[in-house]
Amino acid sequence: MNAVLSSASPSSVPAHVKHERLIQWVHEIAALTQPDRIEWCDGSQEEYDRLCDMMVKAGTLRRLNPAKRPNSFLAWSDPSDVARVEDRTYICTETPEEAGPTNNWIAPAEMRGTLNGLFEGCMKGRTLYVIPFSMGPLGSPIAHIGVELSDSPYVVVNMRIMTRMGKAVYDVLGKDGDFVPCVHTVGKPLAAGEADVAWPCNTTKYIVHFPKTREIWSFGSGYGGNALLGKKCFALRIASTMGRDQGWLAEHMLILGVTSPEGKKYHVAAAFPSACGKTNFAMLIPPKSLGGWKVTTIGDDIAWIKPGADGRLYAINPEAGYFGVAPGTNDKTNHNCMASLNENVLFTNVALTDDGDVWWEGMSKEAPAHLVDWTGQDWTPDCGRKAAHPNARFTVAASQNPVIDENWDNPAGVAIDAFIFGGRRSTTVPLVTQARDWVEGVYMAATMGSETTAAAFGQQGVVRRDPFAMLPFCGYNMSDYFRHWLDLGARLKQSGAKMPGIFCVNWFRTDENGKFVWPGFGENMRVLKWMLERLEGKASGVDHVFGTSPSYTDLSWDGLAFSEAEFGKITSIDVEAWQQEFALHEELFEKLAYHLPAELRQTKEALRAKLAA
Ligand code: GTP
Ligand code: SPV
Ligand code: MN
Repeated sequence: MNAVLSSASPSSVPAHVKHERLIQWVHEIAALTQPDRIEWCDGSQEEYDRLCDMMVKAGTLRRLNPAKRPNSFLAWSDPSDVARVEDRTYICTETPEEAGPTNNWIAPAEMRGTLNGLFEGCMKGRTLYVIPFSMGPLGSPIAHIGVELSDSPYVVVNMRIMTRMGKAVYDVLGKDGDFVPCVHTVGKPLAAGEADVAWPCNTTKYIVHFPKTREIWSFGSGYGGNALLGKKCFALRIASTMGRDQGWLAEHMLILGVTSPEGKKYHVAAAFPSACGKTNFAMLIPPKSLGGWKVTTIGDDIAWIKPGADGRLYAINPEAGYFGVAPGTNDKTNHNCMASLNENVLFTNVALTDDGDVWWEGMSKEAPAHLVDWTGQDWTPDCGRKAAHPNARFTVAASQNPVIDENWDNPAGVAIDAFIFGGRRSTTVPLVTQARDWVEGVYMAATMGSETTAAAFGQQGVVRRDPFAMLPFCGYNMSDYFRHWLDLGARLKQSGAKMPGIFCVNWFRTDENGKFVWPGFGENMRVLKWMLERLEGKASGVDHVFGTSPSYTDLSWDGLAFSEAEFGKITSIDVEAWQQEFALHEELFEKLAYHLPAELRQTKEALRAKLAA
């Protein structure tokens, strides 16, 4: 062991860390990964500024023009490290059945062998950062703590924005509190004297979860969901298994508050797959012509939802920041988001303007005449390349959102009135459908399809089944997850409390020229309004094969020119297309046959029979 590490041995553990098991684990991982030094992060502004300065010197970050974008930085990743790697993501349960057919599985003992080999010496020449964080308000009974050990300062500064990170976590942990151990390395050890690269990573990647011991191990990537382990790895994959065991839900959902012109407030949780509009919907600005509706944000990506004593479901956002898609975001599509990004932002893989600011496709109608693109090359509008990577992202504190909900940080959470599930479908699926009961809603969510996006590595634009928008994020067998939802519904029903409504939406139907027919964004309020009125028994709809949808006159059109013919294009139900759709549901159910709840198979048969009639 080298001198720096031994000087960083137990004696250098800060006095406020009193958790022996944690200290021992840090030193075990240090012995395995062999970093040059250990740094116990305190989450302070001083620490954040120091690490950012250090990364600017190393070429990992570029400081943006302080006159344009104060205290903000731009990172360009290695071109191979730009998205989640679903094919390298593993759920290592005892048996393959526990992980289920939608997850990659390797036996825990075998995976531990592989990881021990990969992690041995993987932090040589680097610093091991100890990053304590809380998912959910510090000390809240619904929050859970994690500690990430990472050799990436980029991860440290992102985690400080995305979670409640720092010294105060140790007060909550005390001497023996529970925490989820997360180990992360970029997988690029440095030989003595070897110069670092701007974005170290490894072509070999492993994103590994051990649900039984609630451990996360991530190797080879510095990017988003692969490396910020509090997010998808902990708050969804590990937390979904905790929720199954403890009777709650961890979901890939935004949470919004919506207040009617009469002043009645509702809370809605919506699951859309990656890069399908959660951040936009969570911050939407209702058209004024609808008369004084207001939307406020509780969360934009993840919801932890627990049944309360009153039989209702209470949701919190376990995160403290937004790691959002930049391309397509502008003052028209998401004004509140743009306003959040004025300062204190980390940008990843967007383009750099000549005056030291950022630009991405869709930020302005006209592109600047010259940029440096996300790969560091000169860019002009006619060069035929994209200036920003399609999965370019911003990291920003939730507190900068001008429409943050007054309860976003409330440890008790907010009571959910409705769930929305939505995929990206250019055909087949209508604008909005209400499920007639909980089981039908679970069926809709379970069979949801969506066209793949740049958020994950792989082919884009192909329709795949993405149950509950959780396909890449469910930490256990998908059929058992369906069962968990059905059981929860049955329990809610027994309590006698009003059940949340369940709706299915699709903003993405296209016309014969491939253009979106529905204006979307703020105009989605028209659909949300219909849903809330349905909950109040105030709006009518038309019953059809698989639910209830509005007719043209059931929506408010004040202030929007949208014809009945256009409405027809996004609401029509094509029998042949739906026969094919049901064949795809069938295929999904065959894949998920083990433990598939009988209610879902019965629902499918009933719907199919209706369609045939
Ligand atoms: P993750 O952070 O990956 O989980 O995604 P997200 O669901 O938060 O995605 P986000 O809200 O950032 O949406 C990204 C893309 O969806 C952008 O290209 C938006 O322009 C597009 N989008 C969002 N809302 C709408 C809409 O109502 N209509 C259309 N046509 N596009 C939309
Ligand atoms: C997603 O892909 O759904 C995201 C971004 O929210 S990441 O954190 O990279 O998973
Ligand atoms: Mn997401």
